[in-house]
Order: sequence, then structure tokens, then C-alpha cells
Amino acid sequence: MIGRLNHVAIAVPDLMEAAAQYEQMLGASVGEPQDEPDHGVTVIFIELPNTKIELLHPLGENSPIEAFLEKNPSGGIHHVCYEVQDIIKARDHLSSEGARILGSGEPKIGAHGKPVLFLHPKDFTGTLIELEQV
Ligand code: CO
Repeated sequence: MIGRLNHVAIAVPDLMEAAAQYEQMLGASVGEPQDEPDHGVTVIFIELPNTKIELLHPLGENSPIEAFLEKNPSGGIHHVCYEVQDIIKARDHLSSEGARILGSGEPKIGAHGKPVLFLHPKDFTGTLIELEQV
């Protein structure tokens, strides 16, 4: 069911410092910061030849990554995103297998303008999984 790894998201305490490190030390192709108010984050995408890295920083009140950064003050891997062909089919299949879908259970439009859902990390070996319809 899942396809390509779309991105790995890393929560960072200082977005510009992390972006500069990827650009200058690692020599990666780093994009501009994008505010995602619906998701409570500012993101910077880093294009790699085979996938993307998404640097995440809290935006506004009650950002979903605020608590994560409190527990991991120097930052850390926050989630992985897998591509699916049909997000509703994927969701219904996963629910029927007992996996918990976070939030309302309805897809939201993600940072790439495509529908996304998140799966409960306790159901997936401690890893927060994002599904993105491509
Ligand atoms: Co993501």
C-alpha cells in the first residue's frame, strides 16, 4: 500500500540555523521558509535526489511540535511521510486493522498542497507516520 518515502521531518529549535547547516555544511538544496498556520508549523524543505527533508519549527499558539521540542530541546526526527495512491482507501484499511488516525480522521491539506493524515505513533513502533496522497 505505501509507496515512496516522501520526506523525513525534523523538528528544530532554530529554523534558520538548521537551514544554514544543511546548505553550507551538507551542501543541500534548501528552500524558503513557508508558514503552515493550519498545521501550527513553519517548514523549510530540503530537496535530496531521492526524497526531501522537512525542517519544522513551531508557529503560533498550541503548535503540535511545541511539546516535542520541550522533550527534545536540541531537535529530533518528528515523523516520516509515505506516499499513498488513495488516502481514503488507506485510512479505511488502517482503521479496520486497528490503527488510530490522529485528529478528526479526515485528511487535511498538507505543506505540498496534497491531502495528508497522521497515524498514532504508539501503533507504529513509536514513529509518527504521515500519509500523503500523490
Ligand atoms: Co510532513
